[in-house]
Amino acid sequence: MKVVVIGAQWGDEGKGKMVDFFAENAEIIVRFSGGANAGHTIVTGDTTYKLHLVPSGIISPDKTAVLGNGMVIDIESLFDELATLTSQNIKWEGRIFISDRAHLVLPRYKQMDSDHDKKRKHPIGTTGRGIGFAYAEKALRTGIRAGDIFDSFAVENMEDEDKAYLEKLKEKIRPMIIDLAAFMYKHREKNILFEGAQGTLLDIDIGTYPYVSSGMSCSAGAAVGGSVGPRHLDHIIGVFKAYSTRVGNGPFPSEFDRVSEKDLEDFVRETGREYGVTTGRPRRCGYLDLVALKYACFTNSIDSLALTHLDVYDKMDEIKLCTAYDHNGKALQDFPSSIDMLNKVKPLTRTFKGWKKDLSEIKHYEDLPKEAKEYIKFIEEYTETPINMVSVGYRRSETMIRRDPWKKS
Ligand code: GDP
Ligand code: IMO
Ligand code: MG
Repeated sequence: MKVVVIGAQWGDEGKGKMVDFFAENAEIIVRFSGGANAGHTIVTGDTTYKLHLVPSGIISPDKTAVLGNGMVIDIESLFDELATLTSQNIKWEGRIFISDRAHLVLPRYKQMDSDHDKKRKHPIGTTGRGIGFAYAEKALRTGIRAGDIFDSFAVENMEDEDKAYLEKLKEKIRPMIIDLAAFMYKHREKNILFEGAQGTLLDIDIGTYPYVSSGMSCSAGAAVGGSVGPRHLDHIIGVFKAYSTRVGNGPFPSEFDRVSEKDLEDFVRETGREYGVTTGRPRRCGYLDLVALKYACFTNSIDSLALTHLDVYDKMDEIKLCTAYDHNGKALQDFPSSIDMLNKVKPLTRTFKGWKKDLSEIKHYEDLPKEAKEYIKFIEEYTETPINMVSVGYRRSETMIRRDPWKKS
């Protein structure tokens, strides 16, 4: 079976935790998009792992982890990350592979990325990891793929500076390079988990363009960036938080008001520890936006949702979520493409009673307080998508599963 995990908001939904959880039943984990702009956190016991390029499945000792062709890879960052994993007693040798069709991030792209963003009238607030330039070179057909390092035709076409840089890394990377299409065919009967990066609203096509990243973080990206056809994907899981966050600039219709809702914003940011894993920037926070979530469910064919960070609302008397946008007195329920419109709309909210209970010890969905179940049921009905997984803390154990995505219905 093939199961896909993607972000259903603006990234940082808790994909790393979910991938680690679902990896138990997978033999292979394939990351299919983005690069070192991502930051995926996994907490097991007393150890916290922060991964940027390496698929989250690497934490489990017997799994194979693959960096798919939809990714853009900074080889030096990858080896830094692997060195950190070694220092955390993770043995990765022999079980991490890179698609020969994945594009590389060259050192100069990083400066170009920061300079380009600074020059914009309205900067995006990129992570400065050279992501946009790597994807731009790919689209211009001047990019360098991981397999190109060993291909005399490709090497002949490279600038001397790039040749010299790659020559230094060549032997280190050689054992990891595979033909992912052939690999996926060979392992087609196995359980494979596809790990998304970023989120639907940061996807280059269906996100809040131009305030997006440059890769395909939508579910279709799992097929393209993981070297399989779309019919091979059996179950798509969309991860979302009980509220919304965004790092960097761009429209955020349900964002808490910086003045009148400052206390709420501070509470959510501190309780949810909402600071970026890659850049350390404080994340912007807001209500759960059901207009955007329903858009994500439809555009990704999400089969089931995984709700995370429900515990962050444990102490609240009441909880609001956004059910529509007010646009000049009209209630909108379709997610608009216009940035001007997204900037101007106001969230229309619905209020729920808080559960005022510590959820972290609850192991079964049935044992959740009725107020929490009401919040969940409303989201399911609105999005017409089941919430099969509820996370009430960052630890693996703080997870409730209602239906196993690996079991075919
Ligand atoms: P990703 O990019 O989607 O993998 O998410 P990040 O790792 O960037 O950010 C999610 C953060 O929330 C991490 O610090 C996780 O350890 C943490 N986290 C994940 N699930 C939960 C949850 O249910 N409750 C709380 N409080 N924290 C969570
Ligand atoms: P994970 O996988 C949250 C944001 C950046 C910026 C925009 C473009 O951890 O969920 P880029 O450097 O990609 O060109 O920046 O996208 N961004 C993310 N925000 N989580 C991420 O990844 C992100 N990856 C990129 O903050 O606004
Ligand atoms: Mg993250």
